[in-house]
Amino acid sequence: MGFKEEIARRRTFGIISHPDAGKTTLTEKLLLFGGAIQEAGAVKSNKIKKTATSDFMEIEKQRGISVATSVMGFEYGGKKINILDTPGHQDFAEDTYRTLTAVDSAIVVIDVAKGVEAQTEKLVEVCRMRQTPMIVFINKLDREGKDAFDLLDEVEQKLGLNLCPLSWPIGMGQRFQGVYNMYGKNLQLFSANSKQKIAESIEFDNIEDASLDQHIGEESAATLREEVELASGVYPEFSQEDYIKGDLCPVFFGSALNNFGVKELLDCFVDIAPNPQPKAAEERVVNPMEDKFSGFVFKIHANIDPNHRSRIAFVKVVSGLFERNTNYKHVRLGKSFKFSSPTTFMASKKEIVDKVYPGDIVGLPDTGNFRIGDTITGGEDLHYTGIPSFSPEHFRFINNADPMKAKQLNKGIDQLMDEGVAQLFTLIQNGRKIIGTVGALQYEVIQYRLEHEYNAKCSYENFPAYKACWIESSDEGQLEEFKRLKQRYLAEDKFGKLVFLADSQFGLQMAQEKFDKIKFHMKSEF
Ligand code: G4P
Repeated sequence: MGFKEEIARRRTFGIISHPDAGKTTLTEKLLLFGGAIQEAGAVKSNKIKKTATSDFMEIEKQRGISVATSVMGFEYGGKKINILDTPGHQDFAEDTYRTLTAVDSAIVVIDVAKGVEAQTEKLVEVCRMRQTPMIVFINKLDREGKDAFDLLDEVEQKLGLNLCPLSWPIGMGQRFQGVYNMYGKNLQLFSANSKQKIAESIEFDNIEDASLDQHIGEESAATLREEVELASGVYPEFSQEDYIKGDLCPVFFGSALNNFGVKELLDCFVDIAPNPQPKAAEERVVNPMEDKFSGFVFKIHANIDPNHRSRIAFVKVVSGLFERNTNYKHVRLGKSFKFSSPTTFMASKKEIVDKVYPGDIVGLPDTGNFRIGDTITGGEDLHYTGIPSFSPEHFRFINNADPMKAKQLNKGIDQLMDEGVAQLFTLIQNGRKIIGTVGALQYEVIQYRLEHEYNAKCSYENFPAYKACWIESSDEGQLEEFKRLKQRYLAEDKFGKLVFLADSQFGLQMAQEKFDKIKFHMKSEF
């Protein structure tokens, strides 16, 4: 197969959901169809159990598992599919945001009973910002839930999506009979004990066909016809072009646990989902078909072996062929590197590879040279953009608790920040270091890892900040005045960008009113 064909058959995506909506279950069922695993239960959940929200040892254990499930590649219907794992736990939301920069599309899982939940809103917002094409999967139809029309209304309103149902449920919960697949023009009948099998599918060119009544009963058939007619009046017709632009979002109904509606989702997905798309670098837009390799680091994973501080940098290949033992340029460092054991991921197996195509993810062993967002190329100075940091929710001073180990501590902090575990802000006034995180859990993780991997000890002290705002000003004079007045709250982020650590919502509002030429951004890229 030629280079272009290889690119055209790649589908790299992420599944996003609020915890418990069924992401892990759906992932597992997709892998079953891909023949990547033989039985359900083979994909270990990398979920942090609800009972263990403060048990960081658990996270340490889970880290091992999540290396294996970071990327799950498999073949299906002639397509090479890569599922990029996104942590569901909200304390790790930043990881998920960054992973979403490496996908070409996304599947959003929604629990039919719970509807749109907080985490779904945030993650979809990130996808919308990037115009990532999305497909919605409404899960758990075997349970009582919301009426299909009401739920779709809710999804449209809360998530700001234009929907286009491609399947329609026939009842739900106890009365769930199956789904009518509007995309494939067939009917799947549900039977609760078909977990590992593919549901029976009956072809229907026309929903008016009288035999529909025999399959699901006259009453259900009448309701289905009515609802499908209503739905086709309310919702736009499917257009692949609009879907790829991120303007239209197909919807499927099913039950991941019962393996119902999953095959229809997958069949449609491989048909319509985008192959690797051109990507903007600061300098220019790069096409996947270009011959020169380029890619960017979206995730860094520390190895579980505490004796070796080796890590794996996950690189999304954007253009050209990546080849083993070839010199590539690390643009930020301006240095050349060669990789003797790049790995790719098939299901939960890792293997060393010689060639990696655009769309795929390659894992590069790293001893501390990479940082999230780094670009690697065949020589050109490109900088891929779009991996922003968001304002953390928690802020604490980090202090050295063992004066003999200052060097180790600094190195540890630097490397953990490169991995994206948390964000570092250095106060301009006195150089004190502040760690900002999305969740409180990360502080324990950092402390534990500093001690076990870097032999350094730290303690924390509260820093009363409400949000971190990246500052931009069109008026030098006003900026100087702002800096003079607010110097106690000003810091630099890792890249030397100016950040205002607002102490309260009120304080931020006051500053915004007083300094009208200054823009306060809640994320590092604007
Ligand atoms: P997540 O990764 O999005 O957090 O969700 P996960 O797949 O782990 O699913 C969360 C719970 O919902 C699990 O139950 C799972 O079995 C259940 N579930 C997933 N899909 C369906 C479905 O289609 N119908 C029904 N009724 N349940 C579904 P659990 O009790 O939390 O875990 P487990 O002990 O069953 O693993």
